[in-house]
Amino acid sequence: MQDIYLDNGATTFPKPESVYRAVDHFNREVGGSPGRSGHERALEAGREVLRAREALAALLGVADASRIIFTKNATEALNMVIRSVLKPGTHAIITSLEHNAVWRPLEALAERNDVAYDIVQCEGDGSLDLVRMHEALRPNTSLIACIHASNVTGNLLPIEEVAKIACERSIAVLVDAAQTAGRVELRPEELGIQYLAFTGHKELFGPQGTGGLFIAPGTDIDPLHFGGTGSLSESPKQPEFLPDRCESGTTNGPGLAGLRAGIEFILKTGVTQIRRHEEELTTRLIEGLLAMDGLSVYGPHDWEKRVGIVSFNLDGLASPELASLLNERYHIAVRAGLHCAPLAHKTIGTLEEGTLRASFSYFNTNEDVDNLLQALREAKKC
Ligand SMILES: Cc1ncc(COP(=O)(O)O)c(C=O)c1O
Repeated sequence: MQDIYLDNGATTFPKPESVYRAVDHFNREVGGSPGRSGHERALEAGREVLRAREALAALLGVADASRIIFTKNATEALNMVIRSVLKPGTHAIITSLEHNAVWRPLEALAERNDVAYDIVQCEGDGSLDLVRMHEALRPNTSLIACIHASNVTGNLLPIEEVAKIACERSIAVLVDAAQTAGRVELRPEELGIQYLAFTGHKELFGPQGTGGLFIAPGTDIDPLHFGGTGSLSESPKQPEFLPDRCESGTTNGPGLAGLRAGIEFILKTGVTQIRRHEEELTTRLIEGLLAMDGLSVYGPHDWEKRVGIVSFNLDGLASPELASLLNERYHIAVRAGLHCAPLAHKTIGTLEEGTLRASFSYFNTNEDVDNLLQALREAKKC
């Protein structure tokens, strides 16, 4: 097993101890199907899911927890919004830092469904010029999708300003918070964001197979799946009310129990404290990398503009080779390549070679950073 885990951008590891306990408790002690039957196990399973929803509402400052629906990951939530909002004849705007979880569903719709879209080009350091976003607007623009933090460069994007641009024109805004929920203070309702997609298994510390979507009051959504919800069972029609409208089929009870424990850990620790810790690690890594020759570091160096995800390349050594070396010789887990975000790599000029990405969570230490830097110094000599 790996000794140093720096691939938290893919999924966080380890989770807080309480997450493992909550999953185990659900599986061993609760066991019923949430919202399906009237016996005690089913009722307790339903309460577990409700507690997860309420924990998330508390973290995101959402007044009505039923406006948070659970999906199996951020990708499913993003697909739901893109397919729901974009009808034939409409137009969407995305940024050039978006993940394939946004780009591919949009491209699929564009191919089949008479939907058009434009990609607003970000700068080489990953920053977004809002003038370009204004220029991309069309009379039939129905959706602006904007990543909150790039999973390649770590850049934070100005979602508040993007939401303003959208709101002034009654355009729906979709924020991909896969890399920020849990590690950045986030209040979608206050920011005027209609849809905010999140994943449970990254910085929210939940198990894999958890994620979801915040849907602002007064905003419609078409479900991605139709089926049993445990409510209005006599009707062939999907319920109109949330969360049932978008949660067909048995939910991931054990996963959501774990997600609730992950969120409670964050609420107890405080997002500010988590961010401060990641700042220390990220600044230490960036300073260490910049002190080396023959190395390119991507994204902003200023902490205020980023999260704890750092992409870099060593001259003369391809990122997959370097990742293998770190894995095999130093037992350090990082990720190489395109990170499912080719648009972002094109933006920073690394589409051919990709980058090596080190990504932190609250559980990493300064020693992890120093070990990575030492391994890189040695790798440079090979
Ligand atoms: C920015 C971003 N968006 C979306 C996703 C997709 O998340 P999930 O794998 O939970 O669907 C990821 C995952 O890496 C991501 O980094």
